[in-house]
Amino acid sequence: MLILNKTARVFSTPSKRKICEFLRSFHFHPGKRLFHKLVLGIETSCDDTAAAVVDETGNVLGEAIHSQTEVHLKTGGIIPPVAQQLHRENIQRIVQEALSASKVSPSELSAVATTIKPGLALSLGVGLSFSLQLVNQLKKPFIPIHHMEAHALTIRLTNKVEFPFLVLLISGGHCLLALVRGVSDFLLLGKSLDIAPGDMLDKVARRLSLIKHPECSTMSGGKAIEHLAKQGNKLHFDFKPPMQRAKNCDFSFSGLQHVIDRIIMQKEKEEGIEKGQILSSAADIAAAVQHTTACHIAKRTHRAILFCKQRDLLCQSNAVLVVSGGVASNLYIRKALEIVTNATQCTLLCPPPKLCTDNGIMIAWNGIERLRAGLGILHDTEGIRYEPKCPLGVDISKEVGEAAIKVPRLNMKI
Ligand code: KG4
Ligand code: ZN
Repeated sequence: MLILNKTARVFSTPSKRKICEFLRSFHFHPGKRLFHKLVLGIETSCDDTAAAVVDETGNVLGEAIHSQTEVHLKTGGIIPPVAQQLHRENIQRIVQEALSASKVSPSELSAVATTIKPGLALSLGVGLSFSLQLVNQLKKPFIPIHHMEAHALTIRLTNKVEFPFLVLLISGGHCLLALVRGVSDFLLLGKSLDIAPGDMLDKVARRLSLIKHPECSTMSGGKAIEHLAKQGNKLHFDFKPPMQRAKNCDFSFSGLQHVIDRIIMQKEKEEGIEKGQILSSAADIAAAVQHTTACHIAKRTHRAILFCKQRDLLCQSNAVLVVSGGVASNLYIRKALEIVTNATQCTLLCPPPKLCTDNGIMIAWNGIERLRAGLGILHDTEGIRYEPKCPLGVDISKEVGEAAIKVPRLNMKI
């Protein structure tokens, strides 16, 4: 506790004398750990304040997270100034918790890695200014992190995966397919042209008022849809998968969302209930939207695999598809993807659910990857800014569309 209080004082008062006192207050543990690189990772790009300390072998020495989901569920979506305020209130405590759990003193860190793009401007700003204050006091290198790069590389912390591999990132804020050729070498094959699948599922869950459902009240929209879908019949509704004629790897979810909105309105009329009450057909709608989402994601991913195989972009002996992001924790969608990888002789890998959603570990690990590769390690943070919008890698989605690969129909019996 004493250490935590001292840490708190130094973070809020950046003076040279204080940082020296602070460093002396830590007990050092000379030994094996001193031979390893150690990175503190900080994540505040959306609605989770997270931090972790990871060593170069992938050991997670300490982690802490504060999720804002409950607050945002109540307001029906993320209100950026509210998210910013919650990050401000929690960031110091979360970093302290991660550091003290790791038993690593700040002076032992090799670097601090922090998400600076893409994300909500107000949220990114909190993590960045806190981190800059920290690295300037500690005189440590700073490693700016691209949130999507971190999601993509997480699998290399849990599994032995060599470059190149294909990655599908599906969450509340993003949706993309990319070929990962190196730590910071990505080819973007396709992305959502409108909203992300998690965002669509969140909107549908909100429109179905699943927060009032006794079994779903504390779940994110996507999780609530997955939960309720198990009790429903997907065949009661026939939603067409989006973009069936576009032979590329892009995605779209807002059209599907509007179709579902109309169906819900129609059902409310039929059942004679007000908006805000739970439809008797809510589980069937959840099952059908989950199925259509899974088929759409599976089809675009199937085409991406075929494109990469056609151009010999994946490892011939072991082609790997990595799926990550919050929506990747959906087991129904994973099964749909398994059908695709079985049909194309690929290996499907997903990080454990805890590492699929936003966390500090993936940011710290991305820092380790960059340290090892000697990429993007800043000793001077002058002029560093956060970037709310930032594409990932080189966009070759037009070329993918021009290849117009026809995807064989698969039996999506899930
Ligand atoms: O990666 P994440 O924590 O945050 C970002 O968006 O970056 O993902 C959160 C999203 C939310 O939209 C949530 O509804 C969705 O992931 N999600 C799920 C499931 N669990 C979380 N979607 C479908 N099925 C789930 N089991
Ligand atoms: Zn994310």
